Amino acid sequence: MIILDHNTGLITLHTRRTTYQMKADQHGVLLHTYYGSRIRGDLSRLIPYADRGFSPNPDEAAGDRTYSLDVLPQEYSGSGNGDYRLSSLALELPDGSCGADFRYTDCIIIHDKYELDGLPAFFGISDEAETLVITLEDTVAQVSVQLLYGVFEAYDLITRAVRVVNHGDRTIRILQAASLCLDLPSADLDLITFDGRHTYERVPHRAPLRPGVQSVGSLRGISSHQHNPFVVLCAPDAGEDHALCYGAMLLYSGNFQAAVERNQFDTARLTLGIHPDGFTWNLAPGETFCTPEAALICSPDGFGPMSRNFHRAIRDCLIRDPWAGRPKPVLVNSWETTYFDFDDSKLLALAKESAALGVELFVLDDGWFGHRNDDRGGLGDWWTNESKLPGGLAPFSRKLRELGMSLGLWIEPECVSEDSALYAAHPDWVLNPPGRPYVRGRDQLVLDFTRKEVRDAVFGMLRKTLDGVDLAYLKWDMNRCLTAPWSAALPPERQGEVSHRYVLGVYELLERFRKTWPNVLIEGCAGGGGRFDAGMLYYTPQIWCSDNTDAIDRLTIQYGTSFAYPPCTMGAHVASVPSCHTDRWASLAVRGTVAMSGAFGYELDLGALSPEEKAEVAQQVAEYKAVQDLIRNGDYYRLSRPDGPYTAWANVSRNQREALVSLVAGPAVAAPPFLFLKLQGLDPKLQYRINDEPELWPGDILMQAGYPLPLLREHTAIRLHLTAE
Ligand code: GLA
Repeated sequence: MIILDHNTGLITLHTRRTTYQMKADQHGVLLHTYYGSRIRGDLSRLIPYADRGFSPNPDEAAGDRTYSLDVLPQEYSGSGNGDYRLSSLALELPDGSCGADFRYTDCIIIHDKYELDGLPAFFGISDEAETLVITLEDTVAQVSVQLLYGVFEAYDLITRAVRVVNHGDRTIRILQAASLCLDLPSADLDLITFDGRHTYERVPHRAPLRPGVQSVGSLRGISSHQHNPFVVLCAPDAGEDHALCYGAMLLYSGNFQAAVERNQFDTARLTLGIHPDGFTWNLAPGETFCTPEAALICSPDGFGPMSRNFHRAIRDCLIRDPWAGRPKPVLVNSWETTYFDFDDSKLLALAKESAALGVELFVLDDGWFGHRNDDRGGLGDWWTNESKLPGGLAPFSRKLRELGMSLGLWIEPECVSEDSALYAAHPDWVLNPPGRPYVRGRDQLVLDFTRKEVRDAVFGMLRKTLDGVDLAYLKWDMNRCLTAPWSAALPPERQGEVSHRYVLGVYELLERFRKTWPNVLIEGCAGGGGRFDAGMLYYTPQIWCSDNTDAIDRLTIQYGTSFAYPPCTMGAHVASVPSCHTDRWASLAVRGTVAMSGAFGYELDLGALSPEEKAEVAQQVAEYKAVQDLIRNGDYYRLSRPDGPYTAWANVSRNQREALVSLVAGPAVAAPPFLFLKLQGLDPKLQYRINDEPELWPGDILMQAGYPLPLLREHTAIRLHLTAE
């Protein structure tokens, strides 16, 4: 609910459990007065005013030394106006002056959720979301900003984006435009970031805010394996089910920065948006620049409710799943079985073995096109390699159908090998500054997706190749970062726009794919989880969570990922042992348990398993099919951290009548302690049957006292299926 009080100038956004408030003051500065648990009243009364040394006073303060933008909590900070904290917007005017100083002009409510042209955004369902548009103006720059707010009451979700409009008659340059700025009255907070590397992504790191700016971000052109565009600010004592926390995510798949400043008076400011380094945008008269969308959820009761609200919002209002409402096929992916070494008979043998165990989708990974026999060549030549697949993909998909399976296919549209027909014909289509030697990643270069003709060419090849192919799924991969992006199609003064235009190009082509193949599910991937962000999820309802298929490592990776993203978005496969990534062995039960907590599949030669293992796989597949609705649409509870005696989590149905509790034991210890697993999310008044145990368990006992675990042996799995009676 959005409430505008025209008498006091108070602007209040209420969600189910939270309140967000702003107020334009006597000078038109839009103050941020409150964000936290739901309350009523004018919170501007809490804003302190004091004469602070070296905090300057704007002209309109008329000598009032207690009024300084350096001190006041603001909704969208400017720059060069006496506020030395993190700026949200920086402009360069034609005379070379830099700055941004905005004052409130008006605001309106729209009874629907705003959309952003060419950018991913949460959408409203059944009139649930409202929009607030606040306009601010910098009269010197002749620029206005529209602060957009989407209010999703039921999810405690507030989305934000900013439109910058040039009303003058000269081109100005945007040097920075954050998607959100959030001033909080106390910096006694911890910052949690989700960091890692290729094959070990999104591991939470938590530390108290220290004086100064702490930030994470990406300058790699993709959101990156190294840092995720999602951060949490929380009370020092916040945990899964207690104390205040704020989650902030950016729906963006390129360079980003999340920065938090603990300033001189121990208040905090968070900014989140496109990374300002290397970014500039020329805004001609009459033009509008739109930032990516950011999304905030405040939880008064810890991380669990915050995550579950993000999960529900992403599932209901962001993902556009062509398979929505239908059971998802369990897939087998060929990559870790065959790598590049396959032909149709090898693939069909693998498919046949898989189909016999209940697997329904066969994903043919890298190597099916051009002369792609290793990762050094062929990328960009999107026609079928008929020496591997005689007659092309159509007959192959028909043969799969005869086995009762559908076809999925790997593609990597954004990159090109120098050893390819595409590169030979268009060497100028790669992003590279003139005269600079190439910097290669996986021996490949990045295509200039800022150019429509380049996207058209790649799309044209794929459309021709996929014509008549019975296709169910595409895996859209991206296997390197951008380096020194420079486009031959843009003038020198626009080169600072390349990284953002690249992302817009990727989104445009993804949208074209969605429209051309509306029934095909696209899974995102960038060497696993190098582009696991809410921007991609708008186009690709699931993302390959990590190239690391070691089940024990996956416990940590999936745990970290779950703070923002729901299980249904995490591609998770059972792979062979010992793991090709860690050389570690894990039982099939452990591997199945871990993979089942995501978008489930296999990535191993199922034909090479023993009869007992095959029987276990068939049972896992059947079990997943029976509980997948619970896993995909239920509420997710982290029952432990991944570094204790066990890692445990639960999927609980929305009506609390069913739950799947999964646990994987940690490293062996001598004389293990007696442990009781305290469940969450159950109905305390209901009685639950656990697996086929004769005894019923009251929900309150399971949550307050816990379920007695057997003595845990290293890396063993337990799955408890609870049904209320
Ligand atoms: C990336 C992906 C893998 C696989 C290979 C194929 O690394 O993350 O899953 O598709 O590319 O080259």
